[in-house]
Order: sequence, then C-alpha cells, then structure tokens
Amino acid sequence: MTKENMRLKWGVGRMIFESLVTPIVIPIWHIGMDDVLPNEPPYYLRLFKKLTLNFGNPIDFSELVRTLRARNATDVEARKEITDLIQNELLKLKKETETLHFNSFRIKS
Ligand SMILES: *[C@@H]1O[C@H](CO)[C@@H](O)[C@H](O)[C@H]1NC(C)=O
Repeated sequence: MTKENMRLKWGVGRMIFESLVTPIVIPIWHIGMDDVLPNEPPYYLRLFKKLTLNFGNPIDFSELVRTLRARNATDVEARKEITDLIQNELLKLKKETETLHFNSFRIKS
C-alpha cells in the first residue's frame, strides 16, 4: 500500500527449506492494481487503467538448499538466506517492472 520496500517474512524461507521437494518459485511484480481498485472508499473497479504484470525468471533453490544442508546451516540461517534471495530477485523485478510500466504508458513516476 505504501510502496515502501518491504521485508519478506521468513516463513517463506522456511516453507522452501522444509519442503520435501524443493519448489521452483516464479516471482511476480505488478503495478497499477491500486488504480484499478484503490484501497480506500468508494470500493469499485475502475476501468481503462494502466496495469503491468511482470513475471520474472523462475528461481531454483535446489543449489542453495544443497549448500545449506551440506554446511549444516541452522534453520534460522537457512530461512534468512533463502528469504534474502527471493527479496533480491523481487527488488530487481520491481525496478524492471517500473521501467516497463512508466516507459510503456509514459506515466510520470
Ligand atoms: C554436518 O552434520 C553431520 C551430522 O551431524 C556431520 O556428519 C557432518 O560432518 C557435518 N558437516 C559439517 C560441514 O559440519
């Protein structure tokens, strides 16, 4: 809502680390949803707004999980490193999506 950089909660790292089959995660960033449905009254869908959905490259955690297990990383270390990886990928995707959105629609940021 505030567009500030947010920190992901470590639960996401825990889910990935503890999965029996290490999942592949596809990061998604979107801009413009709050123009379509603003988070304040009146709550109704606005038409013809500019919306950008950007799907990033799949993140494969198997190498990182293997490394963490091989060096007997604690659960806390593992959760943090996995979460940090997603966080960094999302930040890159955010910047890329902002460029796409503002260049495509010539919206002043
Ligand atoms: C990790 O723990 C296992 C089992 O306790 C042990 O055999 C192994 O040497 C440890 N590896 C490292 C890198 O500490």
